[in-house]
Amino acid sequence: MPRYALPPYKIKMVEEIRLISKELRQKRLEEAGYNPFRLRSEDVYIDLLTDSGTGAMSDRQWGALMQGDESYAGSRSFYKLEEVVKRITGYDYFIPVHQGRGAEQVVLPLLVKQPNMIFLSNTHFDTTRAHVELSGARAIDIPAKETYDASAVFPFKGNFDLEKLEKQILEHGIERIAGIIMTITNNSAGGQPVSLANIKAVREISLRYGIKTIIDGARYAENAYFIQQREESCKHMSIKEIAKEVFHCADIFLMSAKKDGLVNIGGIIAIKNDFALFQACQTRVVPYEGFPTYGGLAGRDMEALAVGLEEALDPAYLRYRIDEVRYLGDLLQAAGIPIQFPTGGHAVFVDCGQMCPHIPFDQFPAHSVACELYIEGGIRGVEIGSLLLGRDPDTLENMKAPKEYLRLTIPRRTYTFEHWNYVAEVFKNVFERRESIKGLEFVYESPVLRHFTALMKPIQA
Ligand code: F0G
Repeated sequence: MPRYALPPYKIKMVEEIRLISKELRQKRLEEAGYNPFRLRSEDVYIDLLTDSGTGAMSDRQWGALMQGDESYAGSRSFYKLEEVVKRITGYDYFIPVHQGRGAEQVVLPLLVKQPNMIFLSNTHFDTTRAHVELSGARAIDIPAKETYDASAVFPFKGNFDLEKLEKQILEHGIERIAGIIMTITNNSAGGQPVSLANIKAVREISLRYGIKTIIDGARYAENAYFIQQREESCKHMSIKEIAKEVFHCADIFLMSAKKDGLVNIGGIIAIKNDFALFQACQTRVVPYEGFPTYGGLAGRDMEALAVGLEEALDPAYLRYRIDEVRYLGDLLQAAGIPIQFPTGGHAVFVDCGQMCPHIPFDQFPAHSVACELYIEGGIRGVEIGSLLLGRDPDTLENMKAPKEYLRLTIPRRTYTFEHWNYVAEVFKNVFERRESIKGLEFVYESPVLRHFTALMKPIQA
């Protein structure tokens, strides 16, 4: 067996990428207000901003596009996708939406039945948190003790803290809990997987108290692969069997299909045996997303998704996908660069708080390293730390994130190991001069989701 899995595909179409000169990169970053989000993608050589909608479709998916039925109502493509979603999840009802947050805006407010309700999650993704708050509820994260412990080598750092989960339910009162959201894999905590045992335990608690369980399953296939590889009792189960078991432990499945759907746009709502909720979702999907048999997608998008969902469950694909992330993580770790370990499913998370302890959290160490990485080698990563977290709504003080991560997010089926060798070389150069990296201050800061649009400048000592 090779140390890392070999790619189970070859390249049929290529897209040109260019590395512009260092002088030009410096100029472009200045023009972008030291915010990589504001760069034009053609000025980026390796784009590791996100794995969302950035992957490559297969020849089968491109072929399927031609079969799209663009009827407004009752499209053949809808029924094809519905069959696949129902088969994979075992759920009774399906509604397509344009992407993950479309699913959130349709479903989450329906679960908030009174003022001051609460959602509990291993970690809410930012848009999920935003929709929870927009619906008048509060989002509370209860990740496992091991999640942010850099020294702990733990196979399932995405898990819930089960004790705290039950404590929170009892403290706030059952009637105030709108739902339990299982984010699999746990994106914000490093793309870390959640074990089947943990998922089953969450289900047991939810059933005991009669609380709905929601899977935020953008990367559910990657999570199933980790379960197969790392959970002794699941070694002999297929990926599909594991996925089924996971779905069995919830009532609602919300999916950004831009990840494990292997498409550039698309999302899924699936509901288990709650016809009233399904009807309520159908009612809401019309004004927000579109008629319930297209939900903001073209027929061709639904065709590509029907194929992509199956491909993402292919063991050979998953083995290579996860090994690609591990390969980059191993290269960085071998160079002494502190990363979230073991590496997760969709990205390598570099601990920039540890790498640059001289930069205070409110001068955004991970964002500073992101800027240096772009100047050094045209690579674009994304800060997942205090810049992203924002300010306390009451005190307006900067909040301190548990970790100052730089996320190097790996698009699916897009780059090669040669690209990862290059990324590691560039990162090593930045790491060697880490002590000279300066923090950043705001020139402009928007009141919400400031990381997307902020203008910044390096702090001169
Ligand atoms: N849930 C999770 C766990 C996600 O990672 C995302 C998106 C969403 C929901 C929302 O889905 O973007 O299709 O509306 N994550 C992307 C990222 C944006 O870069 O991590 P969406």
